[in-house]
Amino acid sequence: MLLLSPTDIHQVFSMKDAIEADKLAFRLFSEGKTEVPLRTQIVSEKQNGTFLFMPAYAPDLDAAALKIINIFPDNIDKDLSSAPAQVLLVDGKNGYVNALLDGATVTQLRTGAASGVALDLLGRKDAKSGALIGTGGQAATQLEAMLCIRTLETVFVYDQNPERTRDFAKKMDHELKRYGTKILPAATSDEAIREADLIITVTPATSPVFDGSKVKAGATVSCVGSYQPHMQEMDPVILERAAKIYFDSEEAVLSEAGDILIPLEEGRITKDDFTGDIGDVLTGKIVGRELADEIIVFKTVGIGAQDLVTAQKIYERACEMKIGTKWS
Ligand SMILES: NC(=O)c1ccc[n+]([C@@H]2O[C@H](COP(=O)([O-])OP(=O)(O)OC[C@H]3O[C@@H](n4cnc5c(N)ncnc54)[C@H](O)[C@@H]3O)[C@@H](O)[C@H]2O)c1
Repeated sequence: MLLLSPTDIHQVFSMKDAIEADKLAFRLFSEGKTEVPLRTQIVSEKQNGTFLFMPAYAPDLDAAALKIINIFPDNIDKDLSSAPAQVLLVDGKNGYVNALLDGATVTQLRTGAASGVALDLLGRKDAKSGALIGTGGQAATQLEAMLCIRTLETVFVYDQNPERTRDFAKKMDHELKRYGTKILPAATSDEAIREADLIITVTPATSPVFDGSKVKAGATVSCVGSYQPHMQEMDPVILERAAKIYFDSEEAVLSEAGDILIPLEEGRITKDDFTGDIGDVLTGKIVGRELADEIIVFKTVGIGAQDLVTAQKIYERACEMKIGTKWS
């Protein structure tokens, strides 16, 4: 079995690679070529935590995986990650576990890549400006994915914590310099999104993080944060204004994401407003953007197929490059 640390993974796998891996994952998922049972959630009231178990199997890749990612918000006070995670990768030909990968790194890559795939397929080709709301653990790969798929002049970032907003913008402006995009802090979320062609929200918010009426025509919004019925970062106004609404998996989104469940419950949208899953755009079964000025929303909660394909591709690359630690 190969042990792959965050450093090992970054040595062998880029955001561009992750976007290609997610494209394959979404395609396989939509073609019915993956088995991805809904993830199992166990809530620990005792520790204010949630254990998440995410299995997946793809016969075409001869691979299966189980990601364990546990959401423990109080960990921050203990100087621990609020989402510790590992991915167990299984050889589909014989059932042996062939790798253990740092799950936080896999998650950051594949979650950023989901926005990358959606914004690439659905965003305006001439997009010049981006916005990122939320500057926590997932934010850096979200931002990099946005920069990977379009040549942007500016991205405004906003977090409810002004210090984090400033620090993140400064750090990313330096670390992602090679993309040639100016990363700037915004004083409010509305300021951040005002000129944006591409918008990503990645917060655990329980009320909308920007005013949907201020989003400009032609914008594409990727909503990453909400994964429980009470969580909502998207202003329902943006759903009412959207010409098209896509998902990573409609079934998964409707099983957990307040971003969609709350406006459905309130009658502000109906299931007829849903366009479909992003994998069906990749296979050509449904259309993507048709008009320059339509507003498009993509909601992702993350599916096991992304972890599986991403982990498998990292593992293959690590074997080729002889990176990682052998165990037993
Ligand atoms: N869709 C997926 O596949 C996927 C994968 C991983 C994580 N997530 C979810 O994405 C969300 C963010 O994850 P993270 O690890 O970056 O979290 P984090 O706790 O590290 O950071 C969240 C950030 O959001 C900011 N924030 C909270 N409310 C805000 C608001 N109203 N306006 C602006 N900023 C606000 C916080 O200040 C914080 O900086 C979580 O809900 C997480 O569960 C989704």
